[in-house]
Amino acid sequence: MLGSTGSIGRQVLDVVRCFPEHFRVQALAARQNVTLLAEQAREFQVPVTACFAESPEVAEGARELLPGVLLGEQGLLEVATLAEADVVVAATSGLVGLNPTLAAIRTGKTIALANKETLVMGGHLVMEEARRAGVSILPIDSEHSALWQCLRGEQTCEVRRLIITASGGPFRRATLEEIRSVTVEQALAHPTWRMGPKITIDSATLMNKGLEVIEAHWLFDMPYDKIEVVVQPESIIHSMVEYRDGSIKMQASLPTMHLPILNALSYPARLDTSGTGLLRELCWPEVARLNFEALDSARFPCFRLAREAAQRGGTYPCVLVGADEEAVALFLAGKIGLTDIAMFIETLLEQHRPVANPDVPAILDACAWARRHTQMLYEQRYGRNV
Ligand SMILES: NC(=O)c1ccc[n+]([C@@H]2O[C@H](COP(=O)([O-])OP(=O)(O)OC[C@H]3O[C@@H](n4cnc5c(N)ncnc54)[C@H](OP(=O)(O)O)[C@@H]3O)[C@@H](O)[C@H]2O)c1
Repeated sequence: MLGSTGSIGRQVLDVVRCFPEHFRVQALAARQNVTLLAEQAREFQVPVTACFAESPEVAEGARELLPGVLLGEQGLLEVATLAEADVVVAATSGLVGLNPTLAAIRTGKTIALANKETLVMGGHLVMEEARRAGVSILPIDSEHSALWQCLRGEQTCEVRRLIITASGGPFRRATLEEIRSVTVEQALAHPTWRMGPKITIDSATLMNKGLEVIEAHWLFDMPYDKIEVVVQPESIIHSMVEYRDGSIKMQASLPTMHLPILNALSYPARLDTSGTGLLRELCWPEVARLNFEALDSARFPCFRLAREAAQRGGTYPCVLVGADEEAVALFLAGKIGLTDIAMFIETLLEQHRPVANPDVPAILDACAWARRHTQMLYEQRYGRNV
């Protein structure tokens, strides 16, 4: 498992804890949370651990707590290609997941994929490698898990459209003026999902929904004009597929990541969750109402920018991801407003000179260019260093 100490990683381990007769963890990797990594390794008796360790102090701490720990990107690659593992859970945040995921595919591992950036920036490479190696990419994201479940047993050529649902985030009802002055705390208070900070801010700007459209395009080989988004504020319907006869299949449950994680890990079986405490039974009269609304991209320009970058293709999605990561970090540090995120991304997408059909170095270069130039733009606009 790559990213075991994060929000998804910890929930994957909740699932493993409930089904020890089905799953065994062979290796864990994280970046810097050495204490939790060591606790997890102890609890699940994991023989192999890796720590990316951005500083010598973290590396030192990792060596102390985890004898034999693998360090740096090489450590992630070793975890991703470990002979004993059948499935690699890709749950790191950011673009560090791309290379290990490609390496895991080449060694024939099934991929349970949470990491969005991997598909958004390198979807053409990931899906091509997966086809070549004959491996499956199983989605962990709840919307894609829903689409995947609705598509099972059906013909792709009979799909009229994929309909991805969105909660609308914490500012669904806010005016543009109100969104301009929201605080970090308000943006981190998502109404239905508890997630890591980056994806929570992406959910507040609806960038997350744009990234999900790109993921769906690659995962299900669907053209962009057949992928739509509708707001479903209760987050009970996780997505839908409409077929050419007009029939619509939807997948529902109370909002939880445990279910899509379990689905990816247990596929093609469905394991019994009753008595595990993982999933509360859905009581329809309690839900009472399901609401649906159109997504307003005038108030949420990040969604429009993601769709535009996707249509332009090449390295544009890499610039989208790089600029967004850097701008979200600036927002979380209290240096820019929430609406500045879209402004930064739009400026960089305009300045970018794209590369068609990029390989891994070109992807990483475009992303690094976007990060650097976002910082420069910040310094120009606000006259300070980041
Ligand atoms: N959270 C959700 O509900 C959700 C839903 C759908 C999709 N996703 C996607 O899943 C991914 C993970 O999301 P999250 O919310 O779990 O993020 P998170 O809570 O921030 O956790 C990120 C994980 O990745 C690890 N990591 C980051 N950089 C790393 C590096 N260079 N080397 C090794 N490990 C690294 C972190 O380790 P440390 O803790 O040691 O820093 C942590 O374990 C993201 O791409 C997100 O978009 C998340």
